[in-house]
Amino acid sequence: MSRYFVLMSYRPNLSSLFRIEGLSLRVYDFALPLRSQLSPIFDTIAPAEFSDSRHEFASECFRSSRLSHIRSLSVPPTHLETPIKAPAVKNALKPTKTTEKVLPENDTKNTKDALVSNTYPSRKFSVAPMMDWTTSDCRVFHRLMSRHTLLYTEMVTTGALLHNDPARFLSYHQSEHPVALQLGGSNPAELAQCAKLAEEFGYDEVNLNVGCPSDRVQNNMIGACLMAHPKLVAECLGEMQAATKIPVTVKHRLGIDDLDSFELLQAFVETVKGSGCNSFTIHARKAILQGLSPKENREVPPLIYDYVYRIKQLYPELEVIINGGIKTLDECVTHLLQVDGVMIGREAYQNPYPLLSQVDARLFDDSRPVPSRYEVAEQFIPHIEQRVANGWSLYGVVKHALGLFHGQRGGKQFRRHLSENGHKREAGVEVFREALKFVEQTETV
Ligand SMILES: Cc1cc2nc3c(=O)[nH]c(=O)nc-3n(C[C@H](O)[C@H](O)[C@H](O)COP(=O)(O)O)c2cc1C
Repeated sequence: MSRYFVLMSYRPNLSSLFRIEGLSLRVYDFALPLRSQLSPIFDTIAPAEFSDSRHEFASECFRSSRLSHIRSLSVPPTHLETPIKAPAVKNALKPTKTTEKVLPENDTKNTKDALVSNTYPSRKFSVAPMMDWTTSDCRVFHRLMSRHTLLYTEMVTTGALLHNDPARFLSYHQSEHPVALQLGGSNPAELAQCAKLAEEFGYDEVNLNVGCPSDRVQNNMIGACLMAHPKLVAECLGEMQAATKIPVTVKHRLGIDDLDSFELLQAFVETVKGSGCNSFTIHARKAILQGLSPKENREVPPLIYDYVYRIKQLYPELEVIINGGIKTLDECVTHLLQVDGVMIGREAYQNPYPLLSQVDARLFDDSRPVPSRYEVAEQFIPHIEQRVANGWSLYGVVKHALGLFHGQRGGKQFRRHLSENGHKREAGVEVFREALKFVEQTETV
């Protein structure tokens, strides 16, 4: 029979429970309601209850790691064996098959690192929110290459969340952590409700989109048009913070249309920081709301990184993340001399391996071996199988991996095979396996 130990973090924001089986430590994140149902269990536990081997094991955890700040109390197995009323809690305590497949077995270092960071989740390196691209499948795929990268969801509007079953938009895979939900909206009360939902679903951060230039969202006062309404943005962020304990952040542009001076950008930040929000992700170009498509709005207005650097210089107390046109880790290192974090969108999606497989070592001081491209593809297979078994289209899942072999021998054929055959109604995981025959098992970064 397995022995179970559960550790719970002191930090209220870190919604993680830790279950230790033998020597492997796994992280489980629970939504708030689950946590509150579990808290009575933890209240009953005191260090004195460590005994025998459990005590030894716990002490070893403390000695060998930086876990000592955790109020870490082992739950005697009886607590777990006692039937817990809420079935969700019981289920949550079981390791899910997919989590086992995605997370390496002995992932203790990663877990500890995440724990000891004072700024969990770290925004030093993130993959940008991208509609239709950074879906849950994409994030599961990205997580196979990097443990530390913060992954953003696509933007979800408050309307979509509040008028539908939120689980439809908010469900995700436990392996995705650290994961941030991006919201689109401008009604403070609705955004507050949605921020609460983000916390309940266990997201590590909730972000407000003030950068999307599409007409569709402008008509609903969502996205970049809000740059002209800093007070409203501040009100939205204030209400969101009041509604949740998870970090609330904002992603915005340098400006819009002719509201594009540095002084106006500074005035925007000055007003918005009054809400208490202290993390600003800045897409370093303005948006032109009339006449340019969203795609052109990511290419035509010039990038002015200097404006972002100057914001950081003026407000050193704020966390400033730079975004836009960044393609390599060398560029990230240069930006990190000026700002606190780098967010990458298109390059991380279209050519993920060079960035994501190296970022942990380069930026997070974590040099554990990373899987090769081929191994990443193989590790993605269980997830693909599960999705297809649940009725998802193969292409909808594997399209996020099209860029995995970018620039590699056979990479084009891999991509073409999936594009030509992945859409077929009967297409299953064998199409992905066939595509893999075009690429080599050993390759270079
Ligand atoms: C397909 C696509 C969809 C996007 N959707 C969103 C979105 O939902 N929310 C958002 O804030 N930005 C969105 N963006 C913008 C990116 O987050 C990012 O700011 C932009 O692509 C610039 O970064 P990059 O040059 O690294 O790609 C999207 C970008 C792309 C390419």
